[in-house]
Amino acid sequence: MEILRTVAELRQWSRAARGGGNTVGLVPTMGALHAGHASLIRAAAASCGRVAVSIFVNPTQFGPNEDYAVYPRSFEADCALAQAEGASVVFAPSVEELYPAGAATFVDVEGLSHRLDGKSRPGHFRGVATVVAKLLIASEADRAFFGQKDAAQVAVLRRMVTDLRLAAEIVVCPIVREADGLALSSRNTYLNLAERTQALALSRAVRRVEALAASGKRSADMLIEAAGQIFSAEPAIRVDYIELVNWATLEPVETAAPGTLFAVAAWVGATRLIDNTILG
Ligand code: PAJ
Repeated sequence: MEILRTVAELRQWSRAARGGGNTVGLVPTMGALHAGHASLIRAAAASCGRVAVSIFVNPTQFGPNEDYAVYPRSFEADCALAQAEGASVVFAPSVEELYPAGAATFVDVEGLSHRLDGKSRPGHFRGVATVVAKLLIASEADRAFFGQKDAAQVAVLRRMVTDLRLAAEIVVCPIVREADGLALSSRNTYLNLAERTQALALSRAVRRVEALAASGKRSADMLIEAAGQIFSAEPAIRVDYIELVNWATLEPVETAAPGTLFAVAAWVGATRLIDNTILG
């Protein structure tokens, strides 16, 4: 499996793949790959003739007091995993390659970028939209694969692809969880043993809301309150948000309907975790 470092190499690879009659899939990641990422690569390999996995810890999506400097990096192991799951190439550019000196162009998905995680992480979705736009343009991918784990990110990127009339189709893959329910995340490695147990409150809240909604409880106030009670029982956790929103607009809804997004974010010690479900 080849490792590509420049946009020109990625574009050339993609055009050659297309020329050979293949569809091109792109799986954007920040590395520290786990079974959640692996599921995206597998989905891409199942539906595209050639797959590029990008590994790039994107500085513009981290706030000044966030974990950019210490974000887990495991490049060798990531390449082995990507190859084993069916990647054709890994694209691992330098910061200067994606942000040339003097870079002044950013993609801002207005409105959406300031909701959910965008509210507590100003500038985060601007960084995400900018880097994903660069990756989609450089790779000329037919399909790009993202996890429902980051449901607000999906909403922002769908809006961006529609607004910029980008060619790629966005494919969303289900959340991969540990056996006890915790959603896999590269940031789970930050948790100590006590925090690892406390973190289960997020998936418990998600399951509780799923069960209530399935039993016909549809009032947003009631569902949010029920999730809040689960967090109250876990005083070591600080809730960032508990929201019931329209998945396309990220605007709050009063009543849950099929397709409504229930999403939570919470601080477990110094680690911010997220989880969600799309209600049936
Ligand atoms: P990262 O956190 O590395 O995640 C890369 C992709 O893996 C995202 O689409 C994310 O939703 C998906 N993913 C993470 N955990 C998952 C899980 N437990 N189950 C299923 N999918 C999961 O998201 C980013 O990187 C960045 O913002 C990026 C899009 C690469 C832009 O820099």
